[in-house]
Amino acid sequence: EQDNEDEFQKSFKEMISTLPKGNSWGLPDHLYQYQGFWLTPPFLQGVMLAQQQFEAQPTDIILCSAPRTGTAWLKSLTFATITRTSFDDSTTPLLFKMPHDVVPFMELDHAHFSANRHLGIPLLATHAPYSFLPTSIIDSGCKIIYICRDPKDTFVSMYHLFTRYAKSQNTQPIELDEAFELFCEGVSWYGPYWDHVLGYWNARLEHPDKFMFLKYEEMNEDIVLYLKKLAEFMGCPFSSEEQQKGVPEKIVKMCSFENLSNLEVNKSGKHREGQGNLGIENKIYFRKGKVEDWKNYLTPKMATRLDEITQQKLSSSGLSL
Ligand code: A3P
Repeated sequence: EQDNEDEFQKSFKEMISTLPKGNSWGLPDHLYQYQGFWLTPPFLQGVMLAQQQFEAQPTDIILCSAPRTGTAWLKSLTFATITRTSFDDSTTPLLFKMPHDVVPFMELDHAHFSANRHLGIPLLATHAPYSFLPTSIIDSGCKIIYICRDPKDTFVSMYHLFTRYAKSQNTQPIELDEAFELFCEGVSWYGPYWDHVLGYWNARLEHPDKFMFLKYEEMNEDIVLYLKKLAEFMGCPFSSEEQQKGVPEKIVKMCSFENLSNLEVNKSGKHREGQGNLGIENKIYFRKGKVEDWKNYLTPKMATRLDEITQQKLSSSGLSL
């Protein structure tokens, strides 16, 4: 097994050295362009390992998203919903573990996923573009939930995450203008952002019953409604008794930005501690949780430019963002 691993590492390093290299917004690891998308080596390697090793089962539920589009929120909502008969809002692991630690991440933790699956929590998250998903995810017919967000808020959120992350790594963060250019050109984590969204949007047409496509903004408008839809889609709808008791509302409250961001674990804990460059303070993940916060950072000219790219990229898709 060690030999296989060494062999994989060696060929991965060789392969990476042939790929186009991109500015990673001031972080130590460069971005590399592989099959149309920009990833840093640990994440690309994780995707490729998962492609080789991950065996999805029909009962698995894969939470997919580009970074900064509401992944942690989706993880906490689906986790709390699936585990609601084992825990309530005074015992849920979300009180002492951050959302990224209750749902494993395919690129880095898929090997631990089987333990959760045995416990009846078949949730696995990934930022991989649709075209990078292990074939077993498509072939097994498991369910896929995708969340996306207005590109302007996604960019602003990403910019803040990576400048705070760069500071914690003692590297020089880049300026907003420079990051904006890169984002527009598609050079961002798992970018181009629009191609990521379109990959899932188009795939959903082929497998409509296996797909749920969510927008951060729509969820914000009526989260209880969307939570009920999520529960139904996952095969564990809220009974009328649960609805009378206000269970969906309690889960929504538990998973709200206000509640999660004020929990001690999310204020002072650390994610992936001891994993080198991947270590990050939990609080960096929780910023404002608002719709249209871009208005505080982007000039009207920048906003128009992003809107134009969005319109152009999505023009024939029937999707608006
Ligand atoms: P902002 O930076 O705009 O505040 P991801 O989890 O995919 O990295 O997405 C991060 C974005 O979701 C951040 O947006 C973060 O603050 C916001 N967020 C985190 N937890 C949330 C929650 N419980 N409800 C709504 N938004 C949340």
